[in-house]
Amino acid sequence: MRVFSGIQPSGDLHVGNYLGAIKQWVAAQTSDAFYCIVDLHALTNPVEPEILRERTREIAAWIVAAGIDPDVSTLFVQSHVPYHAQLAWLLECVASYGELTRMTQFKEKSALQDGVRAGLLTYPVLMAADILLYDTADVPVGDDQRQHLELARNLAERFNNRYGETFQVPRAVTPASAARVMDLQDPTRKMSKSVASELGTVYLDDRADAIARKISKAVTDTDGAMVYDWDRKPGLANLLDMFAAFEGSDPRTVAARYQRYGDLKRELSELMVESLTPIAARYRALRENDALDDVLARGAAKASVVASATYARAAQAIGLTRGR
Ligand code: AMP
Ligand code: TRP
Repeated sequence: MRVFSGIQPSGDLHVGNYLGAIKQWVAAQTSDAFYCIVDLHALTNPVEPEILRERTREIAAWIVAAGIDPDVSTLFVQSHVPYHAQLAWLLECVASYGELTRMTQFKEKSALQDGVRAGLLTYPVLMAADILLYDTADVPVGDDQRQHLELARNLAERFNNRYGETFQVPRAVTPASAARVMDLQDPTRKMSKSVASELGTVYLDDRADAIARKISKAVTDTDGAMVYDWDRKPGLANLLDMFAAFEGSDPRTVAARYQRYGDLKRELSELMVESLTPIAARYRALRENDALDDVLARGAAKASVVASATYARAAQAIGLTRGR
């Protein structure tokens, strides 16, 4: 079954990216999985060209360090496969201005910026193009991407109805726990690369002592009851969710094992350190050699074979002529 997902090279990876996305990518890894570093998406926000180039390589190294084997799945950079931008244009002429202005992420991000880039509005259409180019069935993502996935489904169906059966209609796959990891200092806000909150965010390359400090200072509540309840105790629920996700269990089972927040926090940071330290060590080793450029070139070549065929199908269906 075809799996596709993407991640922006837009900042340092945190435990939300890991639990919401990358850990699921590893679990879904087969020769039918395509994982993409979406550098074109990162252009929707201001970024220095050299920084973007650097981050693209960093993210590639993190993904491999986390367990994606580029000899099994296809790992590539979005801009290396020109059909993404090309299909995005066709889909922009299927999407409506109204539905794009209604996207929650666009409303939130555009409210915080001056000189909002047009690409921020059309961002989810490019994301739909990413997914639809690969005849994707499953898209492993965090909960914040559900609405964008819904749009991708709508665009696929609308295109198929208007121009004939062309695209497979994809679905979002979110993890059972930790689909939305919250900021440790403000559990009503999601942990995010763009809104850096120093104590609130655990980065994948944080050292053991930093992880322990951040978890021990995580905001909880004062009633002390070990109950998994997102409405009344979001800080605690966030910790229980992360624990369950790292351990592969259920947040209520975790809650039943502990009486005191302090004990839960201490064992959670041990579990996190145990899971993240080997990944960070592999990351540092990968950054020291530059074999990754070859890996990404091979990935782009594999991706292009699939993407060019789908793009040709869509261009034909919509009424474009073939150049010679
Ligand atoms: P982004 O950092 O926006 O490129 O997101 C990359 C992937 O990580 C997407 O699948 C997101 O849904 C996921 N993700 C980002 N932040 C979180 C979070 N706080 N909790 C869970 N998943 C997240
Ligand atoms: N928009 C996604 C995010 O910010 C990243 C992304 C781009 C993506 N294209 C994708 C995710 C295709 C899944 C599939 O997290």
